[in-house]
Amino acid sequence: MSDSSPNLSQLWSGRFSEPVSERVKRYTASIGFDYRLAEFDIQGSLAHAHMLAHQAIISAADFTDIERGMAEILEEIRTGKFVWKLDLEDVHLNIEKALTEKIGDAGKRLHTGRSRNDQVATDIRLYLRHNIDGLLQLIRQVQTALLDLADTHAEVVMPGFTHLQVAQPVSFGHHLLAYFEMLKRDAERMRDCRSRVNRLPLGAAALAGTSFPIDREMVARNLDFDSVCENSLDAVSDRDFAIEFTACASLIMTHFSRLAEELIVWMSPRFGFIDLADRFCTGSSIMPQKKNPDVPELIRGKTGRINGHLVALLTLMKGQPLAYNKDNQEDKEPLFDTVDTLIDTLAIVAEMLPGIRVNVDAMRDAALQGHATATDLADYLVKKGIAFRDAHEAVAQAVRHAETLDCDLADLPLADLQRFSSFIDSDIYSVLSLTGSLNSRNHIGGTAPAQVRAAVARGRLAIACNTETN
Ligand code: ARG
Repeated sequence: MSDSSPNLSQLWSGRFSEPVSERVKRYTASIGFDYRLAEFDIQGSLAHAHMLAHQAIISAADFTDIERGMAEILEEIRTGKFVWKLDLEDVHLNIEKALTEKIGDAGKRLHTGRSRNDQVATDIRLYLRHNIDGLLQLIRQVQTALLDLADTHAEVVMPGFTHLQVAQPVSFGHHLLAYFEMLKRDAERMRDCRSRVNRLPLGAAALAGTSFPIDREMVARNLDFDSVCENSLDAVSDRDFAIEFTACASLIMTHFSRLAEELIVWMSPRFGFIDLADRFCTGSSIMPQKKNPDVPELIRGKTGRINGHLVALLTLMKGQPLAYNKDNQEDKEPLFDTVDTLIDTLAIVAEMLPGIRVNVDAMRDAALQGHATATDLADYLVKKGIAFRDAHEAVAQAVRHAETLDCDLADLPLADLQRFSSFIDSDIYSVLSLTGSLNSRNHIGGTAPAQVRAAVARGRLAIACNTETN
């Protein structure tokens, strides 16, 4: 190989006098991961080529050849026959080169009025939109599992906690519906994020637009984008949508991490509130008695990984001048891993929830300890005309007394209770009972089983409506 005629294989190599080293090739190539964008890359290329032909920038015959060549390539990719080459750097150049090998000059004309910069931005948006739609469906599956479980356990009483100390009795169904609400917001956020993902960068070309008479609206329509990105420099360099998506993902994982933490605590023998199906747990290689909640633990653990991806993407963008920089190639691995981890997590939670076995007695026993209905006694006194602060003080004294007798407030004899307020009557025991306490919180958002059922019904309706719109 002489200096004047270097043997360079890259599609951009015309300007260069020596090939990159193997190390540089490996360092700069993205084909090892961006091959996953292949189907979206082809989709984008076909829409671009269709528009070029429509605008008479390429001939109709060229477009027919491009369509045929791309169909063959797609088939080869789907059947695993396509050979990805590191020498060709990335998914775009691999496909373009294969196309040209198949159809000749028409393949070389595909890249007219386009750059890999607007091409890759389009690919990622198509990829993300596709996955957001799948994720929304998975979110609905988890929500449905939560609703089913909440419906079944609307009447089951457990201690509600603040500071992880017994606070007030709540319905287990109500507790589960708190997670339903989190997911409702998660789905809202995802849909909102989708609206900004769904804008077309193609047409921005390298950074400044193109001198060809392109029709961007047509490409947007063909690819089902809602609109076009309105500034070419922004179009090729914007990754806000990827950051937004990862932020949504972080929040979803955070919610599941909290749920996972609760499942782990509830499953510990000290609580014994629930049991997870064996297929979500593993044993210990040394302690034969162990049944470990590995799946919830990993959900908690993987949340850190997604938060890491969010920080990686934010950091990736923070110092970049306009417009495209190669830094952007680093967006893919965090994004792909976020999508993969989120899909797996949602799917596994949807599978795990229906298999939860609830120990109703353990929950009830725990709620019977810790004076969980102390607030109900205070409210009872308020309803008899005592100011809340005075009622609070009287009940606090009664709790102290119960503590000295080593019993729950609800188990104190009437005479004892009356020492703290003459307004207390025998009707107090239904107020101090767990079901009395639960049923009394009968307003929207309250823990009364009737409200839990109403919330389940509203939830089912909302899911049905969202299934229609998305
Ligand atoms: N593989 C590149 C990426 O993922 C494609 C865009 C390359 N553009 C360029 N000007 N080198 O970002």
